[in-house]
Amino acid sequence: MKPIIAHFLTTLNFRMFLRALNSLTFRLPFLINGKDISLLEQDLKNYLNTKTSEIISFYNWRSAIYHWLKLLWIEKWDEILVSAYTCVSVSNAVIQTWSIPVYVDIDSTYNVDPEQLENKITQKTKAIIIQHTFWKPANLDRILKTAKKHNLFVMEDCAHSLGAEYNGKKIWTFWDLSIFSFWRDKVISSVNWGFLLINNETLFNKIPKIKNSLINISIGQVTKNLIYIKVWFIAYKLYNFCWIWKIIMVLARKLKLFPNILTLKEKSCNFKKFFYKYPNCLAYIWRWELAKLDEYNTHRIKIAEFYKKELAWFVELPKEDKNEKNIYFMFMIKVSRARELMNFCKKKWVLLGDYWFWQNIAPIGTDLKKASYKWDCINTEDLVIKLVHLPTHAWIDIKSAEKVVNLIKKFETGLLN
Ligand SMILES: Cc1ncc(COP(=O)(O)O)c(C=O)c1O
Repeated sequence: MKPIIAHFLTTLNFRMFLRALNSLTFRLPFLINGKDISLLEQDLKNYLNTKTSEIISFYNWRSAIYHWLKLLWIEKWDEILVSAYTCVSVSNAVIQTWSIPVYVDIDSTYNVDPEQLENKITQKTKAIIIQHTFWKPANLDRILKTAKKHNLFVMEDCAHSLGAEYNGKKIWTFWDLSIFSFWRDKVISSVNWGFLLINNETLFNKIPKIKNSLINISIGQVTKNLIYIKVWFIAYKLYNFCWIWKIIMVLARKLKLFPNILTLKEKSCNFKKFFYKYPNCLAYIWRWELAKLDEYNTHRIKIAEFYKKELAWFVELPKEDKNEKNIYFMFMIKVSRARELMNFCKKKWVLLGDYWFWQNIAPIGTDLKKASYKWDCINTEDLVIKLVHLPTHAWIDIKSAEKVVNLIKKFETGLLN
């Protein structure tokens, strides 16, 4: 029986597999350098419908934010407001610039509570990173008002939200700077990639300095990205055959064939390698995925609408406002016995996601103290042990979603047989 998996399937499709193969054979000379990055940046500008913004590509999001913060007028121990529900790569990048991440509690939308945000502002606060979490845009009206009032620099973290809208506008257009991630489990993916979108002309003079400080990533690391795409694709296709996929995955991990997700150094906020350029071969792969973005998001919306209709009486879903268009990149439900529900579904071959589960600065194993967390965000701490992630990616059809829904209904009503 084929399992239904919530995680890590954005990077899995035959097109990506073929392009990864092509990159390691016929296109070998263009592995690191080539014209695909500038073509991709142009495609992206067309998609974002922006003629005046500039893009700088990095190997990942964390490098993008690091370089930007370094170039701001930030001084040692200045404070940057971030969501208390986030990934340690955000905390680590801020800490490595010698500023301090100050965590703001979230509300039931998974995004920062605008009131709590105001409470956390001090003389040392310099900037806010607005994260649009999972599928809900943050309350931009209120946050931007607060930022203006206190003269704070705003950066939008759009890692989860390529395609989402707020008040009829694309969410990356609200402020001077947005940062995107196309890491392996993002809206679309090339295993790694992050970019800065700079919307304010007065900041353009900072671009050459950043670009000149970046260096090429090693051929070994680039190859690991391509191997990741190929091995995952084959392993998933072989899922039915007697655990072969498990053996392949264990071997690949043991042989360190995949790029690291988050190193131990990063989990203890001591990771400093932020200097890598985006390699050309990944841009070649991503350009194809961009062409599919609207199709993927339409599919996510269809599956999410089904979940909402079927599960509204059984689990808690965040209230949606009329002024937002959500893409439901990660469809989260709130339940009181999250781990038990995941275990129950696992026995029935449905692997619900524990993305950002258990610890508010994900993943599990992050040293919260070293991430400068003060255990003062109680809503976030309460929520993270109750959120379960349902699949909306391209491999899920309505029939699979029906299976997911039926299992959740059974579990929540106690009718387990
Ligand atoms: C909201 C958010 N911001 C930033 C990042 C970091 O992105 P990257 O892995 O490209 O550095 C992540 C990664 O999971 C994320 O989910």
